[in-house]
Amino acid sequence: MKKKYSACLIGTGRIGFTLGFDKKREQPASHTMACLNNPKIRITGGCDSNAEALAKWKKYVDRHISQITFSEDKKVKTFSEKQIDLMFASCNPDIVIIAVNEDSHLETALKVIEKKPRLVILEKPVALNLEEGKKIVKAAKKNKVPVLVNHERRFASDYAMAKEYITKIGDVQKINACLFSGMRLYDPKAEKNGGYSLLHDGTHLVDIVMYLLEALGDSELKKPVITGLFKDTKEKKVIRGFTANYSTKQVSDISILMSGRSRYFGFEVDVIGTEGKICIGNGHAEFFKRQESNLYTGFYSLKEDKTVKLSKKTGYFANMIQNGVDFLDGKAPLRSTLETGMNALKVLEDIKAKIK
Ligand SMILES: NC(=O)c1ccc[n+]([C@@H]2O[C@H](COP(=O)([O-])OP(=O)(O)OC[C@H]3O[C@@H](n4cnc5c(N)ncnc54)[C@H](O)[C@@H]3O)[C@@H](O)[C@H]2O)c1
Repeated sequence: MKKKYSACLIGTGRIGFTLGFDKKREQPASHTMACLNNPKIRITGGCDSNAEALAKWKKYVDRHISQITFSEDKKVKTFSEKQIDLMFASCNPDIVIIAVNEDSHLETALKVIEKKPRLVILEKPVALNLEEGKKIVKAAKKNKVPVLVNHERRFASDYAMAKEYITKIGDVQKINACLFSGMRLYDPKAEKNGGYSLLHDGTHLVDIVMYLLEALGDSELKKPVITGLFKDTKEKKVIRGFTANYSTKQVSDISILMSGRSRYFGFEVDVIGTEGKICIGNGHAEFFKRQESNLYTGFYSLKEDKTVKLSKKTGYFANMIQNGVDFLDGKAPLRSTLETGMNALKVLEDIKAKIK
């Protein structure tokens, strides 16, 4: 067990760095801030194809490190996208975080995995598509490199509570998962860069449904039945809405609705059982149980379960980084893996095949 693990970050954009300054988000909300806050991690290097973004990142990280250590010789080293070999030679990182845009996941992951770091943290989605994802899986297996995929809700305490509570609400009758935004859900022109919401945000929704289903021992979502397909009124190949319907051995009715024509951003999952209900989403988590009704004599109603105590912070990002540390310390398995990430990608591809 090492005292501190060295980490290099590839991609110093929003999730890599700048979301850490968003005052409305639960912090830490970026890899940089989460690593700087973790006492077992020392950031040693950063890499980006955008020299300006990289320089801003270095300035911030160096200042932060010098305030903690009062040492000038701990300054981070920076590298262009062509200098990944040099980054490994100079920093010898235990952990490499890949937070580049989707169209660079494959190329970057292959370069990194070949160098055999002790852990790769890879941003979601695993890759642009299943075919590219399979190449990453193959390389990770060949080089025996563990990969944590940042489907962040798997690390949030409110979703962990939902997964636990799902076994307390009787038989699950229905799961209703919804994503609302004003973005294109699918656009064939965006296949090359992954700039469509089905992939970008849909991966979170599909992954969290499968995470919750794990509690019931049956998380496979087989081919969907699509209803409510809604095409853009001007560009007919652009998809703005659909519902993907599934049933598993345990839950006969699962519906995943994605809307790209809403004038707000929303992410919510309702799990309806025979004895209770869970409503969880961005900024809310409520748990309901069957109790004697206040409304009708001799009946039962659902009431909020006051025994459920949630902490104010979900810890979604800090817990993710801590899971990486615990894994390297030999204390815990990875809680979001290439396997679960690929399962989500497979479901997205099945949906895509039916809506396009
Ligand atoms: N887990 C989450 O909730 C979450 C949230 C936002 C973004 N993401 C994911 O993180 C990834 C990055 O998204 P973002 O919003 O931070 O994008 P971004 O554009 O803000 O940042 C990406 C950075 O990567 C750099 N880059 C691109 N290609 C590179 C390469 N080959 N080598 C080195 N640097 C390269 C860019 O210059 C940029 O600075 C995407 O996969 C995205 O889906 C995840």
